Amino acid sequence: MKAIILAGGTGTRLYPITQYISKQLLPVHDKPMIYYPLSILMLAKIKDIAVISDDKSLVYYKKILGNGSDFGLKIKFFSQKKPNGIPEAFKLTRNFIKNDKVMLILGDNIFYGDSFVKKYIIPAISSNKPCIYGYFKKDPSHYGVVSFDKNFKIKKIVEKPKNFVSNYVIPGLYLFDKDVSKYSAKLKKSKRGEYEILDLINLYKKKKNIQLKIIDRGVAWMDMGQPDDLSKAGQFIKTLEDNHGQKIACLEEIAFKNNFISKRKFNEIINNMPNCNYKDYLKNVK
Ligand code: DAU
Repeated sequence: MKAIILAGGTGTRLYPITQYISKQLLPVHDKPMIYYPLSILMLAKIKDIAVISDDKSLVYYKKILGNGSDFGLKIKFFSQKKPNGIPEAFKLTRNFIKNDKVMLILGDNIFYGDSFVKKYIIPAISSNKPCIYGYFKKDPSHYGVVSFDKNFKIKKIVEKPKNFVSNYVIPGLYLFDKDVSKYSAKLKKSKRGEYEILDLINLYKKKKNIQLKIIDRGVAWMDMGQPDDLSKAGQFIKTLEDNHGQKIACLEEIAFKNNFISKRKFNEIINNMPNCNYKDYLKNVK
């Protein structure tokens, strides 16, 4: 099983901040944004992970994640020269995916909820079927949208629809099979000059059985397109962390609790950290 975090793009809607820094490196409360999607993959016990970004930003991703060994992972980095569209991720990582299944998570998507991974990701991986998700949104017009019948069979999927299609948005989490790089290579660029993730899903729909899982309201999903999203997500994480006294997406803690790293390695990592709240928190993890 492989996974990809797509962390490139121009982040134009977050200008002027994104003039000098990649969106997915921005802080969401107390940690870089990319920690949140990475934590979801780790909770799903996926260890082989590709991170894709542009050359300039990859320097920083390499600095904060290394080769993944501090988190018990194997992380490889791939460069996307231009934001040509989400499916390009599968072309760039063809030799990394090989004949495996692969989960793609967008680097600006945050999922939070009790049993999210257990209820929605693990069963999808075990079912051996490609899978996309649906999430209810009052205003779905800024996202990919899916309509479906009473058996959750996909009827229609549309990117940022001008007219109402459905209230169910497709979050940036997708599970595909070994054919994904091959299918991605068949796509043509859309009118806006990008390879479109919904074209890839449509191709899967035509050729195979792609399942749709509806995520219920017990799960919070946010994507960080605009400055407001950043402040809302930061506040959300802060409120949860303050209430519980437990961190969300603390990669070292997840690695240790998943037995991805030994107690010795865990202590070594903590000792190498500068004095800060994050270190104090980790010192108390049992
Ligand atoms: O967040 C969920 C939505 O993400 C889906 O509902 C849409 O179907 C999907 O197209 C996408 O919509 P966005 O408008 O959010 O796409 P955006 O261009 O902002 O890209 C999403 C993330 O992927 C963002 O973190 C940047 C990164 N990206 C995007 C493209 C097109 C890349 O790294 N490379 C790319 O070529």
